[in-house]
Amino acid sequence: MIIAVDGPAAAGKGTLARALAAHFGFHFLDTGSLYRMVALAVLSRGEDPRDPESATMAAATLDPKSWNAEALRDEMVGQAASIVAAIPSVRAALLNLQRSFAARKPGAVLDGRDIGTVVCPEAEAKIFVTASPQERARRRTAELAQRGKTIAYEAVLADIHKRDARDRSRSFAPLVPAGDAYVLDTTDLDINAAVAAAIRYVDSRVVKRSA
Ligand code: CDP
Repeated sequence: MIIAVDGPAAAGKGTLARALAAHFGFHFLDTGSLYRMVALAVLSRGEDPRDPESATMAAATLDPKSWNAEALRDEMVGQAASIVAAIPSVRAALLNLQRSFAARKPGAVLDGRDIGTVVCPEAEAKIFVTASPQERARRRTAELAQRGKTIAYEAVLADIHKRDARDRSRSFAPLVPAGDAYVLDTTDLDINAAVAAAIRYVDSRVVKRSA
């Protein structure tokens, strides 16, 4: 079984997807980290994330050692990730890896932007997690502060608007809910309530499948 969790920056996809994977005993892949790894590799070589050749080369030769790099979570890397993510050959280079992960037994949860639309359109359960830009900026500011990075709320909000616009407007695999996705707005939900709603939805899909 595949659970696709998509949504904009800082909507809480990661926390939700991890909780679903733990609940159902499934494998979990944060696909944003793949794009962040590509961005980090390009930036650390002093190259330009807009350069398709450099970014595609980085995507084709991902270094697993950078998987847990603290720098991956930096907002600068997030912005560069959304730049490399708009390059079709970068997305193509990461596709097989994501699809083979999705095929793992007994099931997999993948979070990203295009899991339900492009990577796994056949996923049995698709959740599009969203929240207002202000709430997402509040959460990201708190998350950064917890990691010892004090960044003004206004600056975080501006970054979120910029990244949303780039992710939604790209011509290849833009951020958009799949036609058959369950849209979960978490603006007024705490994490427990969001997880409970997502589990109810997935359970309803399982029942439908076995009926
Ligand atoms: O954690 P956050 O939502 O801030 O970002 P992320 O999920 O780590 O993704 C970083 C960037 O990678 C996004 O802004 C997207 O541009 C890109 N991305 C993508 O294009 N497709 C995915 N499946 C996952 C991420």
